[in-house]
Amino acid sequence: MKARKMRKIINLLSIFFLAISIFSLSLYAQKNYCIECHQELEDELLAPVETFEKDIHQQFGLSCADCHGGNPAEEDIDLAKDKSFKGSPKRSQIPEFCASCHSDSSYMRRFNPSIRVDQLDIYWTSEHGQLLKKGDTKVALCTDCHAAHGIQTSTHPKSWTFPWNIPQTCSRCHSDKDYMKDYKIPTKQWDDYKESVHAHALFEKKDLSAPVCNDCHGNHGATPPEITSIAFVCRQCHPSAGELFSQSPHKEVYDEMGISECEACHGNHKILPPSDEMLGTGEKAVCIQCHEPDSEPYQIASQMKEKLDAFIKKIRHAENLLEQADRQGVEVSEPKFRLTEANTILIMVRNLTHSLSLVEIEEKIEEGKKVVAEVTSAGEAALREAKFRKKGLIIATCFIFLLSIALFLKIKQITKKTPYKSA
Ligand code: HEC
Ligand code: HEC
Ligand code: HEC
Ligand code: HEC
Ligand code: HEC
Ligand code: HEC
Ligand code: HEC
Ligand code: HEC
Ligand code: HEC
Repeated sequence: MKARKMRKIINLLSIFFLAISIFSLSLYAQKNYCIECHQELEDELLAPVETFEKDIHQQFGLSCADCHGGNPAEEDIDLAKDKSFKGSPKRSQIPEFCASCHSDSSYMRRFNPSIRVDQLDIYWTSEHGQLLKKGDTKVALCTDCHAAHGIQTSTHPKSWTFPWNIPQTCSRCHSDKDYMKDYKIPTKQWDDYKESVHAHALFEKKDLSAPVCNDCHGNHGATPPEITSIAFVCRQCHPSAGELFSQSPHKEVYDEMGISECEACHGNHKILPPSDEMLGTGEKAVCIQCHEPDSEPYQIASQMKEKLDAFIKKIRHAENLLEQADRQGVEVSEPKFRLTEANTILIMVRNLTHSLSLVEIEEKIEEGKKVVAEVTSAGEAALREAKFRKKGLIIATCFIFLLSIALFLKIKQITKKTPYKSA
């Protein structure tokens, strides 16, 4: 009995001491002298502390010393910067500095079991990484795209790597003529991209599925994963045009000539809204860039455009009829619905131009023409009905008018025959 009581007291006492030691340890650990001291400093020595609050590393419980080494528990600068202190890495060391954790899968998985740990490996395959290996430190390093302090996850709208902010992140270097003057590449990617259908979709329509720089160029590598060459990047999102292009005679000749598949006609950064003018042999046609007049492809291009134009003319005519009928109050919702089918076929025809197959295009257009013919006759019938109704209305109005006159005369006649007796 006594022994049990003693044991209980000992247990309680040990819990008490454990609690006190945890409490004092936590008090001790709470003081991070890296932050305490740097808070009192200025400029580039203060900046890391100011931006660290929003840093993803801070949110996961990491601190200055996890990256820089040193002892955060020491108030004295010399003791704080002990043997483990790495200081600030040189630019050439940064990828390995970040990768000391990010390529260590057993370390990283403690925080996030699904995080990728291949950033450095992929980075070395990129133009940036390749040039860095040769000693060029002007290329993009981890910190140029993510920052060194105040790093945020890419899903955060303020992050340097959030889609809307990516163009600025890249063009800090790529649009800076001075910075890029030693290189032989253009510096107008951002200016061009701004005018593209993709930028319009991303910034105006807020469509986050539209590509920005890193979707085509990869986050860390030269090209996105699963893509052997940037020449194939468009297909990922436009599979149908890609498929048709592959079946076309252009595929083989472009490969031989080393032309990247979609770029020849659409460009890469300044991809403008496609129009029918791009097709055929007119001034704005892309086909005449490569095909001489009188060559067979030139003829085919011209025929494609003629067929397409004729089809569109028929659609517009049918549309016109329905509009007229609608304005005259005839119910045409059914043929209007049928017309959307014709417009869908038109979209398919435009897409089919990538196959270069005149036969397939003609077949599709024939299918469309049948639909348009139905709509046209429905439109004509509606207009006839409108005419008929108009005629009917005139006859009815005349009839009512004559009837009222007749009635009026009749009433007059009756009142004449039986005049009121004067009082
Ligand atoms: C995720 C890793 C990481 C963390 C965490 C981190 N730093 Fe840094 N720090 C770096 C890198 C990388 C550089 C080099 C930056 C460069 O050259 O652009 C750097 C540079 C510095 C510099 C030199 C700045 C200069 O412009 O010369 C100071 C001072 C500094 N860090 C202090 C701190 C302090 C204080 C903390 C904690 C509040 C901290 N760092 C947290 C990665 C980190
Ligand atoms: C008592 C003040 C004090 C403490 C504590 C302190 N620092 Fe510093 N730190 C400074 C001063 C002053 C400088 C600039 C002069 C120099 O380089 O020594 C500096 C420079 C730095 C630099 C950039 C220069 C370099 O050496 O590469 C980094 C990085 C840095 N500190 C990180 C840390 C980290 C991490 C801790 C905590 C382990 C820490 N500091 C603790 C005062 C302090
Ligand atoms: C001390 C180890 C360590 C170092 C060094 C380090 N990181 Fe991290 N980093 C982490 C951990 C842990 C996380 C949190 C994991 C997560 O986000 O799920 C993280 C998260 C990130 C994220 C967010 C990932 C996400 O989920 O979107 C980015 C970006 C990042 N780090 C970039 C860097 C950069 C750039 C450097 C070098 C300047 C660096 N890190 C250095 C450990 C480290
Ligand atoms: C050229 C710019 C660029 C460079 C250089 C760069 N990153 Fe990234 N990083 C990105 C972009 C963009 C994303 C992801 C954006 C998204 O998910 O949409 C990203 C994502 C990440 C992530 C989140 C997990 C993932 O892989 O998606 C981590 C961690 C990361 N980077 C670490 C690093 C490290 C470490 C380095 C240096 C070895 C580095 N980054 C170099 C642009 C860059
Ligand atoms: C710190 C500056 C810097 C940043 C930020 C930067 N780059 Fe670069 N980039 C360079 C330099 C320098 C080169 C080398 C130019 C060359 O290839 O001759 C380069 C090369 C490239 C190349 C290869 C060009 C070629 O064909 O030779 C591509 C593609 C590229 N960067 C895309 C990007 C993208 C996308 C981003 C943003 C996610 C980005 N860069 C961010 C500096 C930067
Ligand atoms: C829709 C895909 C796409 C987008 C978005 C995109 N690029 Fe490109 N980029 C390409 C293609 C394709 C090439 C040509 C590659 C080739 O022919 O080898 C290219 C080439 C480049 C080059 C090499 C030099 C040049 O101009 O030919 C750089 C640098 C570059 N892009 C940077 C950027 C930057 C920065 C952004 C964002 C503002 C961006 N790209 C957006 C597809 C894209
Ligand atoms: C990450 C996905 C993605 C990639 C990669 C991509 N696009 Fe797009 N593209 C889109 C989205 C989204 C739209 C906008 C659709 C809309 O809003 O009408 C679009 C629109 C277009 C349009 C206009 C279509 C129309 O009917 O108005 C063309 C042309 C186009 N892209 C060509 C290309 C080319 C060429 C490439 C490669 C250099 C490419 N795209 C790469 C997603 C992508
Ligand atoms: C970048 C240059 C280039 C552009 C732009 C181009 N082509 Fe071609 N095309 C070629 C080459 C090269 C061939 C194969 C040699 C030949 O027949 O002239 C070819 C072949 C063809 C063929 C196959 C002819 C056959 O004998 O089988 C057709 C059809 C064709 N092109 C139509 C077009 C149309 C339509 C356009 C515009 C939408 C166009 N091309 C734009 C380069 C181009
Ligand atoms: C030989 C020139 C040529 C090539 C190569 C080419 N296109 Fe086109 N593309 C056109 C023309 C011409 C139109 C416009 C047709 C129209 O509106 O009448 C067009 C229209 C488009 C459209 C909008 C209509 C639709 O199909 O939905 C998209 C998207 C498109 N192209 C994507 C691509 C992609 C992706 C590639 C590469 C696989 C590619 N194009 C290669 C000439 C080309």
